[in-house]
Amino acid sequence: MSPILELRGITKRFPGVLANDHIDLTLEQGEIHALLGENGAGKTTLMNILYGLYSPDEGEIFVRGEKIEVRSPSDSIKAGVGMVHQHFMLVPVFTVTENVMLGDEITRMGGFLNRRAAAERIRAISDQYHLEVNPDAYVRDLPVGVQQRVEIIKLLYREADILILDEPTAVLTPQEVDELFTIMRSLVEHGKSIIFITHKLREVLEFADRITVIRGGKVVGATTPQEADQNQLAAMMVGRAVDLHLEKAPAQPQDVVLQVEDLVVLDDAEQVAVNQVSFEVRAGEILGVAGVQGNGQTELVRALTGLTNPVSGRVTLLGQDITTASPREITELGSAHIPEDRQRDGLVLTATVADNFVLNTYYRPPFARGVWLQEEKVLETAEEIIEKFDVRTPSALIPVGSLSGGNQQKVIVGREFSRPIKFLVASQPTRGLDVGSIEYIHHRLIEKRDDGCAVLLVSTELDEIMELSDRIAVMYRGKMIAIVDAAQTTKEEVGLLMAGVVAQSGG
Ligand SMILES: Nc1ncnc2c1ncn2[C@@H]1O[C@H](COP(=O)(O)OP(=O)(O)OP(=O)(O)O)[C@@H](O)[C@H]1O
Ligand SMILES: [Mg+2]
Repeated sequence: MSPILELRGITKRFPGVLANDHIDLTLEQGEIHALLGENGAGKTTLMNILYGLYSPDEGEIFVRGEKIEVRSPSDSIKAGVGMVHQHFMLVPVFTVTENVMLGDEITRMGGFLNRRAAAERIRAISDQYHLEVNPDAYVRDLPVGVQQRVEIIKLLYREADILILDEPTAVLTPQEVDELFTIMRSLVEHGKSIIFITHKLREVLEFADRITVIRGGKVVGATTPQEADQNQLAAMMVGRAVDLHLEKAPAQPQDVVLQVEDLVVLDDAEQVAVNQVSFEVRAGEILGVAGVQGNGQTELVRALTGLTNPVSGRVTLLGQDITTASPREITELGSAHIPEDRQRDGLVLTATVADNFVLNTYYRPPFARGVWLQEEKVLETAEEIIEKFDVRTPSALIPVGSLSGGNQQKVIVGREFSRPIKFLVASQPTRGLDVGSIEYIHHRLIEKRDDGCAVLLVSTELDEIMELSDRIAVMYRGKMIAIVDAAQTTKEEVGLLMAGVVAQSGG
């Protein structure tokens, strides 16, 4: 029997980049196939070609043994291919049903949109695969994990049987990840076939049937979870051995840099998201904020970086009251921010890589002289950062939006780490990064700490918190329910705290 999908010799060039270089890939019916590769390896490009968003320069695509021509997504949808993108594409102010119907010809047959019939079908699909999605809910009210299931329903509604999931777990809580994998299993049991992209090697080993690794646009290996381990996969991806364990000296905490007292912050819906939170961060230490996504971390960070004003409480940075200060005022005191939503708060996607490096320094020397921007200086700095942070881009002068997801993140990290800072808020700093880049950024974070910077690390990755933090604060339902010494605690204890379980005594 021929495989359900076969890609042969797929090649794609962008100006200055060979993104896909004669890639061969087969997908068997009913398998979960993991596509692994470092940031910029060409994974999303390959999937965009399969989905008809880009046309390949060379190569052929076969579905069930028949060659297909894919000129646009509607061709690939006809062939039964569907894709959930790395950055979701739902309309927040529409309902689930409206989002699913959007752009679907089947629904419009007969010349009108039959909303009720669509809602019925969505309910049936949701039941069949245990997706638990309410067709009438507004997308903006749904947690990320459920929004993702809406994307999956969209594909099933269009009768896709080859599903592409591009980094589906990057934004999910551990529980949502488990749920997603249960759903994926149920999909393949019903005869669907899945290609999924992830940077998390543990997930690959646990859930994939087969693994293909690409590097620099080429297939560099194919394996299975039975034959491979994390170290081997990491080495295959980045072409060198990666140290998956971080060595660091004990912290030498100095003076208090950030002081937060009784802080109360509301979320977008005007509900209390941060509830009477108090803590401090000292120079030379990393305070890790652990917690399941959505327990107030986002709002806490927005308040500390001036993106929102708290309703009460006080924030002091280096002795100055910054409770209601603007982002620029806070930046000028020597504070840096790696935001969790890189596309919204971190980058101007249409601006060049170089300009994005100077977003918060362009108006000062050496980049400005009088009212003139020193273009040469900007470019020179950009080239230094690109080199140092291994940003994969053909040039500093292309729009940052055309970089791969992980390389966009490296632009932000490179920018924030390249000026003298005394305080750093790092929110999900390694989200979407490959193992090699994670290793690099973890080392830079420790280096900042050892330089005397106060670091507030907010991460939903418990491993990352355990690995980097000197003290760990746990947020649960808007409260900081515990602050523990990292050397005195265990992953299990922090995991329980994240679930709201507080020890009765001794803690
Ligand atoms: N629209 C585009 N225009 C120009 N170059 C592009 C475009 N899309 C991707 N590229 C380039 O193609 C290469 C592969 O990018 P791609 O997004 O496929 O990487 P990826 O493997 O998905 O990485 P990540 O893990 O960071 O998401 C990169 O060098 C990227 O800069
Ligand atoms: Mg990608």
